[in-house]
Amino acid sequence: EDPRINSIRTKIRLVPNFPKQGIDFLDITTLLLDPKAFKNTIDMFVERYKNKNISVVAGIEARGFIFGPPIALAIGAKFVPLRKPRKLPGEVISEEYTLEYGSDCLEMHLGAVQRGECALVVDDLVATGGTLCAAMNLLERAGAEVVECACVIELPALKDR
Ligand code: PRP
Ligand code: MG
Repeated sequence: EDPRINSIRTKIRLVPNFPKQGIDFLDITTLLLDPKAFKNTIDMFVERYKNKNISVVAGIEARGFIFGPPIALAIGAKFVPLRKPRKLPGEVISEEYTLEYGSDCLEMHLGAVQRGECALVVDDLVATGGTLCAAMNLLERAGAEVVECACVIELPALKDR
C-alpha cells in the first residue's frame, strides 16, 4: 500500500453518534488541518488523473467543493460545481435521488459542459453511491463521458464500489 494512504487515514476523525444516535461520522476537517496529509490526498488523485484527457472536474456540494478544485487546477481541467437545489443562478438541469429517508437533488448549469467532454466526479465519501449516480446522470445528460468517480473515503460495509 502507498505509505501516503496511512497518513491520510489517520487524519480522518471518527465522531460517534453524529448527526444522530448510532451513526459514525467520518470527519475530513481534521485531514484539512494537516497540510502534508491534505497535499498527499490531492497528489494521489492528480497522479491518477493527469494526462487522462479529463477536461471537467465536477465537485459535489458541499464537501466535493473542497477536494475538486485543487485537482482541477493541477490537471488543467475546468471545475463545475454540482449544487443543491435553487443555488445556481443560471438555467440548470436537475437530477433527483433518493436517500435513506426522503430525497435530494443536484443541479448543474446548462452549458457548463460540452458534448463529448471527459469528466471526473469528485466527492469526499461514497456511502450508498446515490449521490454519485445523480452526479453521473447530470453529466451524461449533458453529453459528457464520466471517466471515473473519485472519493477520499469509502464505506466498505455498503459495498459501494
Ligand atoms: C454526504 C457525503 C456524500 C454523500 C454520500 O453528503 O459528503 O456527498 O453524503 O452518500 P451516498 O453515497 O449514500 O449518496 P451530504 O449529503 O450529507 O452533505 P454535504 O456534503 O453537503 O455535507
Ligand atoms: Mg456530500
